[in-house]
Amino acid sequence: MSVPSHAKPEVIAHLTQAFAFPISAYDGLVDQFIKELHEGLTHENRMPMIPTFVYELPTGEEAGVILSLDLGGTNLRVCRTTLSGKGNFEIIHKKWTISDTLKKGPGKELFAWIADRIEEFLDVQCHAIHSESNYPLGMTFSFPCEQLDINVGKLFAWTKGFRGNDILGQDVVKVLQDCIDAKKLNITVNALINDTVGTLLATTYKHPGCEIGIIFGTGTNCAYLESQSEIVKIKSGAANYTSPTNHQVINTEWGAFGNASGALPANEYDNRLDTRSSQPGKQRYEKMVSGLYISELTRLVIHDLAAKGELFVEEPGKPKTDEQLGDLAIKERFDGAMMGSIEGDESTNLDTIEHHFLTNYNLKTSTSDRETIKYICQLISARSARLSAVGIAALIKKRKLLNEPRKVIVGIDGSLFNKYPHFVQHLQGALNEIFNPATVQSRISLIHAEDGSGVGGAIAAYLACKQQGQPV
Ligand code: BGC
Repeated sequence: MSVPSHAKPEVIAHLTQAFAFPISAYDGLVDQFIKELHEGLTHENRMPMIPTFVYELPTGEEAGVILSLDLGGTNLRVCRTTLSGKGNFEIIHKKWTISDTLKKGPGKELFAWIADRIEEFLDVQCHAIHSESNYPLGMTFSFPCEQLDINVGKLFAWTKGFRGNDILGQDVVKVLQDCIDAKKLNITVNALINDTVGTLLATTYKHPGCEIGIIFGTGTNCAYLESQSEIVKIKSGAANYTSPTNHQVINTEWGAFGNASGALPANEYDNRLDTRSSQPGKQRYEKMVSGLYISELTRLVIHDLAAKGELFVEEPGKPKTDEQLGDLAIKERFDGAMMGSIEGDESTNLDTIEHHFLTNYNLKTSTSDRETIKYICQLISARSARLSAVGIAALIKKRKLLNEPRKVIVGIDGSLFNKYPHFVQHLQGALNEIFNPATVQSRISLIHAEDGSGVGGAIAAYLACKQQGQPV
């Protein structure tokens, strides 16, 4: 990351210090992360560490045609996956953007809309609205649920700006099934998984041996295979107390890391973002790592500098007012895709940045403004990647995976990992610093999970049918 030559040195020094994440901070934070993983497995009300009732990972030989649904932070997808064994699959899907009205409106309306989309998909893609045979459907749901069985999960919090509080505490499978039944569709939702569990299942299907699935996208989270004996908080006699395989997949909900301990190096902007969020004090790690929040952090910094007369100044001594800054002064009006394209701008004049600010906010930028804005994006995304590496390292160390002879395979999906310029390089670089380059190179594989949520949902539904002795 090159320090901008035209920008004000005192502004750059302030930003660099605010978002610094020195190598010396890694070890302490990794140890704290491991501690919080353990605490979550032992006590309630810590990092959620949710047992998922998924007791086994696929072999790669699963075969069948299965429906799945993927409700993420930005889009809804309905998918029809053909698993054909040997890690092969084909997927057809249709995607809809979830509108702000649906995100912020009642949960029941969101689910009724989802059932309408399933019907549309069955009609157009499968020509089978009122089929005689019953379709199993795997539901990939990217929000924290307390699982009571593979097909029962009580939503305990919305994240990523969703607000449908009317269904908080309810079983989301039942809410969806009721909406499906109201439309008389012959579908049974037989598995509920988190998108990280989907990522894990989909990666393992193609790369047997994978035990960790992660999302670095709008939100962030991780699922992994844990020994049943480590999950101390499962009460004796509970339905999932004894696992048929002595293992169980845990949905960590690691976005909650640092909530109670305050271990994260939060600065004034992180604290401002948190206070103004719909859930202050929650998801502190996610708020420093994932796409939704790092773009909002970037906006907060740019807005702050503009208000202090350090950016977009046309007349000396006259900072821009909120009215003049327009959308830039409004929460979440600066998205991750824009941030990525700013960071990816390698032109001499930083034309993309000039264009973005002119067309989206009607703001003229000087060379110094453009360099400063790019630098802000770089600082915030690099810190996000380094913190992401802390989570991965903590999981690898907690499970002592480097003591085993085989390679550690980590399946990862999400827009930050797949699309954000330099994110993967920063992540890899940070892992090199935490372990060492030779170990990372020879022992750790970060693999892009191909359509983790869609295929993973289908595999979960397959495994649930198998567990319940039903044909696929
Ligand atoms: C949610 C997780 C989800 C992650 C990635 C977080 O906000 O709490 O359940 O896995 O986003 O989509």
